[in-house]
Amino acid sequence: MKIIDLKKEIGQFHLQVDYLELEEGCIHGFIGGNGSGKTTLLKLIMGILSPDSGSIDYNGLNMKEITMTSQRPYLLHDSVYENIIYPLKIRGIRPEPGEIAEYLENCGMEGKERQAARSLSSGEQQKVSMIRALCFHPRLIMIDETLSNLDPDSVDFFEKQILKIQEREKNTWILISHRLSEIARICDRVHVFHKGKVVESGPAGEVLFHSEVPEVQRFLKGELLIEKEVDRRRIR
Ligand SMILES: Nc1ncnc2c1ncn2[C@@H]1O[C@H](COP(=O)(O)OP(=O)(O)OP(=O)(O)O)[C@@H](O)[C@H]1O
Ligand SMILES: [Mg+2]
Repeated sequence: MKIIDLKKEIGQFHLQVDYLELEEGCIHGFIGGNGSGKTTLLKLIMGILSPDSGSIDYNGLNMKEITMTSQRPYLLHDSVYENIIYPLKIRGIRPEPGEIAEYLENCGMEGKERQAARSLSSGEQQKVSMIRALCFHPRLIMIDETLSNLDPDSVDFFEKQILKIQEREKNTWILISHRLSEIARICDRVHVFHKGKVVESGPAGEVLFHSEVPEVQRFLKGELLIEKEVDRRRIR
């Protein structure tokens, strides 16, 4: 997917992405300070916002094959189970037997299928939002800080799940996170946002540890990232 000359003005904020390539079959990390435009770009890719000018070349990707989980998950006034199967239901796809129960069990939510989704704790709501995205097997999954409220065991579970699914289905992921160690652990490529622009874009190892861009160096300063923690097989 390629983003070319994309511009979007929202109030005082200007997003301007001259050129950004998001290679298919990779896990991309979007990082940058609060208000730098990460969520705005995700909404443009998702089609929730439309650009003022410029274009997104989806390279054949159909809008029905894209999903996004948001910072504050939106859940229907319905049960956990109905929320999870909703994307499948509207596309006329049957859920894979056992998959949902297995996900719930693996992230400490066994037996909660019938509970009202909106009565869940905030971390549990994020888990439901993640499971809903994973069960529907889209070609592009965008995760906007959805793992931020989860306990360490669940973060570990979903990170491993992302890597496993990506390996198996060769789908594309965009992960926004302020937890840079998470970005280092699972992303192939990293794109750094600063004041509405993408100031650096490249292989995770290079951007996180060898950047020569002053804004990126400033942003990463103070974050203790250990290079050997990065799974070197995944650096391309
Ligand atoms: N409806 C709106 N009206 C005015 N300003 C807006 C609106 N929506 C977004 N913005 C502004 O656009 C800027 C970019 O927001 P965005 O949500 O893309 O940031 P972000 O990089 O995702 O930040 P964070 O890390 O805090 O989630 C922010 O300064 C925000 O205040
Ligand atoms: Mg955001």
